[in-house]
Amino acid sequence: MANSLFRTKKIESIIAEGSDDPHGGGALKRVLTVRDLTFFGIAAILGAGSFSSLGGAVFNGGPGVVLLFVITAIACAFTALCYSEFASRIPVAGSAYTYAYASFGELFAWIIGWALIMEYSIGNIYVAFSWSDYFTSFLDKIGVHIPYWLSTSYLEAKGAMLSNGNPDDVAAWNTAPVVGGLRIIADIPALVINALITYLVYRGVKESRNFSNVMVILKMAVVTLVILVGGYLVFSMGLTHNWTPPNDEGVRSFMPNGFGGVMAAVAGVFFAYIGFDAVSVMAEESRNPQRDLPRGMIYSLVICTIVYILLALVLTGAVNYQNFDGVGDPLAFIFEEQNLDAGWMQLLVAVCAVIAMTSVLLVFQMGQPRIWMSMSRDGLLPPVFRKIHPTFKTPSFATIVTGLVVGVPILFTDKTFVLDFTSIATLFAFVLVCGGVLLIPKKAKAAGKFNLPYINSRFLFPALVIGALVIVALFAKNYFSDIFEMQLNAQDQRKAVYSVIANAKSDFNDGYMLTPNELSIIKKRMNNEQQSEQLVKVIDHNNKLLNTMIDSVAYASITGGEGYKSISSGSNENDSRPLIDSGNRSILQQVRLSSANYPPPAPPDQNIIGTVSKGLSAAKDSRLMAKFNNQLYVYGLLNNDSTAHADTNFLKNIDSKFANLTVSDLRSETSSKLEAKRTLNVSTIIFWLICIVLAIVALMKNWSLIPLLGLTTCLYLLTGMTKANWLWFGGWLLLGLIFYFMYGNKKSRLAKQ
Ligand code: ALA
Repeated sequence: MANSLFRTKKIESIIAEGSDDPHGGGALKRVLTVRDLTFFGIAAILGAGSFSSLGGAVFNGGPGVVLLFVITAIACAFTALCYSEFASRIPVAGSAYTYAYASFGELFAWIIGWALIMEYSIGNIYVAFSWSDYFTSFLDKIGVHIPYWLSTSYLEAKGAMLSNGNPDDVAAWNTAPVVGGLRIIADIPALVINALITYLVYRGVKESRNFSNVMVILKMAVVTLVILVGGYLVFSMGLTHNWTPPNDEGVRSFMPNGFGGVMAAVAGVFFAYIGFDAVSVMAEESRNPQRDLPRGMIYSLVICTIVYILLALVLTGAVNYQNFDGVGDPLAFIFEEQNLDAGWMQLLVAVCAVIAMTSVLLVFQMGQPRIWMSMSRDGLLPPVFRKIHPTFKTPSFATIVTGLVVGVPILFTDKTFVLDFTSIATLFAFVLVCGGVLLIPKKAKAAGKFNLPYINSRFLFPALVIGALVIVALFAKNYFSDIFEMQLNAQDQRKAVYSVIANAKSDFNDGYMLTPNELSIIKKRMNNEQQSEQLVKVIDHNNKLLNTMIDSVAYASITGGEGYKSISSGSNENDSRPLIDSGNRSILQQVRLSSANYPPPAPPDQNIIGTVSKGLSAAKDSRLMAKFNNQLYVYGLLNNDSTAHADTNFLKNIDSKFANLTVSDLRSETSSKLEAKRTLNVSTIIFWLICIVLAIVALMKNWSLIPLLGLTTCLYLLTGMTKANWLWFGGWLLLGLIFYFMYGNKKSRLAKQ
């Protein structure tokens, strides 16, 4: 039994099958050149990651997410080299799956094939959702409106309704027809694009290739434009301060949520890089796979890395990172009026996003059936998966199944879930690919083929591990004591209180705080250089002052209250006792009372107020007018001047948000912080232990350095995954094992030899 699990396929026999099998790869057309393959790589890489998940990544990590792009690029580059090494030795379809079969043996090969379903099919669900987001917003811009309930997923709408999230999704929930007690909500554009793509892939690779080359040129052009125009505006509008935004406690930092926040963005950032590996799936359609596959992969990876780093800088420069909460179309968002204010770019980006994501969908939808085809040739999947269409020469049955595997879950999942799931599974596959290269025997260099440079890691790798440990110990103070600390310390608890404050304050920020970009719109509308300079100064100062006052008073009210004292005792999840004692409930009242300690903000002078009002009403800008009035009202209130009028409900709402904070709000914030801390610590400890073990083995085995570094960097990225990600992924693997033992293990071709 143990032997059968680790039986490996001989590389020679894999190649022979790939070219001879009349039902297999030999029947696919060899048409792709190195340029096609590079385009193919870019087609697969540049898509929903940059157009959509970048928003969430930036929200988690702030500008510091650029660092994560660099780390991820390094991990992917090492992995691409390993893929290339494999691809140059085993130039047949099947990607990491085939490679694992030659190195680790059948069980691991199956596990990788199973994990790749996540990358190719489940990843495509995310892309289809994002495609639909941009497509519907594009239609909206040209005046065609699809009802909300027909353009979002059920889970997304439900989640938004529960957390009062994205207003379009809440509207979907509220307006959806109800049949038999069930709300009818489905993302129709996502379903339709999936059906169209499936049809195109079914028809054959040549048509798809032409289609995808045109799309790649278009999307590269528009992404370049976003970088140039966005970058220019960031500098010309003086927004570079956004690269060091204040954190929850008001301290300016490139990483406002710390390195932990940056690592929390791993799933989104890594997702943006997924795709270069898909090039290897095209082995059997490529003219000279051993030379061209590695080149195509590495060229496309390098190009996309440069694009991402620049994009992340433009995004975080254009808008304060916190504004990206729930933004699914960040590249269009930065050009909205209250941000960089370039409407024409918004439309262009929306069109381009639709194109970009169509090409990603296409590549992955082509990749999945080819992997299944290989698995079927090996007997691990039923024979029908390797059936080739007589006219179109494509794996027809497997293509249709892929369409279903992507299409059906579109009805039952949501974006966050599929994003996390895809990233963890793909990283896992990458770890196995790098590990696999370490295990295959060295080969003699051959001219005209890719040769992974061999650098003996014997002394280098242990030296790197020791060096890294020493540097961390010297420069990151308390790093090692922190990773063994499995409880929240005083600083963590303070952060938890500040996050609760930030949540309660979010409406206040939305309705009151004028962002630098909004101020520049007001300036434009005032059309009075001198007055507007004064106004900006006053408001900037007042924003900061009021923010600090509210935070301090709220912090004191929370940590001085009985509710706070009791959060560590008791374990009731639904503890509805108030967090703030009754005397302190009105935070703004408290702010007013404490004005002896904190001087209240001063209103701008009457002339200026007059010019602003005139300018904003002439432009019919009621949103900014309301926000400006809220400012005046608060200044009036704090200065005991009741002549300023505004929506008094605004402040009542804010106060009631604070008053309604309960012990369980803080408790859930603390426990999620604790869980995140423990998961990160445990994964970090395991990571270092693995590094030490690898260093010892490298010393004995003369392993090749590049795959070893690929393995290590991918493992490092895995430390950013949450506990829930691991649990779901574990469940998925278990399911895969059950399938394997029920079918593949018995039917494997190797079993019959
Ligand atoms: N990297 C691909 C994308 O971002 C999966 O859409």
